[in-house]
Amino acid sequence: MLNFHKDHQNLVNVALVVFVLLSMGVAVIPANEMARNNAPLPEMPPMTASERRGLEVYVAEGCAACHTQQVRNIEMDRMWGERPSIPSDYHYSKQRLDVWRQSPSLLGSERTGPDLTNTGQRQPGAQWHLLHLYDPRMVVKGSIMPRYPWLFEETATPAEDAVVVPVPKERLRDSSKVLVASQRAQDLVAYLLTLKQAPLPGAGDPVFLPSPGARSEADMPQTAGDLPNGADLFVQTCSACHGAEAKGLAGAFPPLAGSPVVNDPDPTLMLSIILGGYDARAEYGVMPAQAEQLSDAEIAAIANYLRGAFGNEAPATTPDAVRAVRSTVAPATALMP
Ligand code: HEC
Ligand code: HEC
Repeated sequence: MLNFHKDHQNLVNVALVVFVLLSMGVAVIPANEMARNNAPLPEMPPMTASERRGLEVYVAEGCAACHTQQVRNIEMDRMWGERPSIPSDYHYSKQRLDVWRQSPSLLGSERTGPDLTNTGQRQPGAQWHLLHLYDPRMVVKGSIMPRYPWLFEETATPAEDAVVVPVPKERLRDSSKVLVASQRAQDLVAYLLTLKQAPLPGAGDPVFLPSPGARSEADMPQTAGDLPNGADLFVQTCSACHGAEAKGLAGAFPPLAGSPVVNDPDPTLMLSIILGGYDARAEYGVMPAQAEQLSDAEIAAIANYLRGAFGNEAPATTPDAVRAVRSTVAPATALMP
């Protein structure tokens, strides 16, 4: 028998064996397993050099202090993604940062800001991200996210290929200059736009466990005519650019309150703008197409909400009308000049 009181060498040996076995069991083997079992999903495009540099900017600027990138399998996380995160989602971030630093930890542990797993889906516009990074309050009223002005430069003589950010003149320190996004800002935005959940091949319904105390779907308020809630959808998909009160932002996004397009009794142009995107005027940025993000019923709900809110007055439209317009709008750049 082992006598730990007298035989100290045995005590040390046993402690060592237990320690090694435990570390293998709870850390080394699972970590290796994870590292091996995360091939990229079929629809995950490989990361470009710029996107990878953007990931490094994300790490360097400490964005993970306030943002997570993990959709947990509980109901309250459903709003951050279509399915819970799996190891494959992190395939392209497992490469080490450099010899001294391990692969970046993007999961995060604190959600002062929203989870970013799917932010490229929610906020598909590069211009929105640039404005938001320069000054979050410019596009999200009351945001507590810090500004990142050092990713931008004010210059009187922007280069030919410079990415000029459409900030209103009075926001600049010197209003005779323009604001240009640095390479780091462009890389960071390229990275943020990759943050989209790739679909799982052949996946059934995602598994989300109910959060304690959560309300079930049946308790949720229903909206008229079985359409989804247009006001909520507007806040989720449109207000980031067009503003919570649909007043827009001079020089970047047009107001939807009082817009002739929204108030046109014939909804065709409005629907084709939402479906196919819009870049008609130099004084505004580019509106990204929403055809892939939103269903016919969702677009009808948003359109009907806008046509009756913010002082607008136009007759309602239907998912059938959206479907008809959808078939005429080619994906993405249909309306680009
Ligand atoms: C002090 C905490 C904090 C830090 C640090 C921070 N953010 Fe945020 N972030 C927020 C909050 C709060 C919001 C929600 C309000 C808003 O949209 O501005 C937000 C929103 C966002 C959104 C919009 C998310 C969505 O889907 O609507 C993006 C993208 C984003 N942050 C990116 C970044 C990046 C990139 C960095 C690092 C350069 C960063 N954040 C650093 C707090 C933070
Ligand atoms: C990334 C920013 C962005 C988002 C998100 C966005 N838009 Fe736009 N939208 C724009 C810009 C920029 C224009 C003007 C483009 C131009 O004229 O060159 C525009 C134009 C429009 C117009 C035409 C208005 C007019 O008077 O000319 C409508 C209607 C519209 N958007 C509706 C929507 C709806 C509905 C949503 C949500 C489903 C939405 N937008 C989301 C940026 C955005």
